[in-house]
Amino acid sequence: MNDSKEIQRLRHLLAENKPEQSVPLSLYLDRHGRRIRLCRLGQRDLEGLVAMYMTFNRDQSAMGLPPKREEAVRAWLTQLFLADVQLVAKHGPNVVAHAAWIKDHNTRAEVMVFVHQDFQGDGLGKKMLMAVVTMARFMGLDTLWAEVENRNGPMIHINHELGFETVSLHQGSREMSLKPR
Ligand SMILES: CC(C)(COP(=O)(O)OP(=O)(O)OC[C@H]1O[C@@H](n2cnc3c(N)ncnc32)[C@H](O)[C@@H]1OP(=O)(O)O)[C@@H](O)C(=O)NCCC(=O)NCCS
Repeated sequence: MNDSKEIQRLRHLLAENKPEQSVPLSLYLDRHGRRIRLCRLGQRDLEGLVAMYMTFNRDQSAMGLPPKREEAVRAWLTQLFLADVQLVAKHGPNVVAHAAWIKDHNTRAEVMVFVHQDFQGDGLGKKMLMAVVTMARFMGLDTLWAEVENRNGPMIHINHELGFETVSLHQGSREMSLKPR
């Protein structure tokens, strides 16, 4: 497939409204040889995503997310799913990571990445964020930003590696931002 066809295919995948099935975007083997699929989230994997968050290590919540109670997790995920494109990583039928993106202005979006503790430290968080940056380019966004707790060394490290800069410091956290173009 030549570049322009691939770009058209990606635009189409990202523009399609709320797919029923998750749409595979890429596949790789992690350091343990596990086959991980990065997908655009479809309706059918919302339950798998709820299941991921119900076993998510509470000590690793970020800025109060994910919510604790199942009801609140469902409400949060439904709101995100209806609002915009979401990415998930799947291992077999299980959802093991989630990248949420929330547009707060026509050309700005807040981004959050959550990797289940059984899959952390293997490069998945960075891959998910790289996919979000690529999507942001396709969609013509001019700013991606994230509010990151100062104690979150891995997230700050990944953000720096992808070119995010700290734009403001708050009590215990910082806003980091990137111009994806
Ligand atoms: C933050 C998070 C998404 C990272 O996902 P991950 O898959 O473990 O991350 P990766 O394996 O891709 O990368 C981690 C990087 O941080 C580095 N790192 C690990 N601990 C670190 C620390 N204490 N300080 C700085 N860097 C650290 C790793 O060496 C690695 O970098 P490298 O690839 O250059 O060696 C994951 O830990 C997570 O879901 N945390 C809980 C939720 C959260 O905090 N989300 C962020 C909300 S904005």
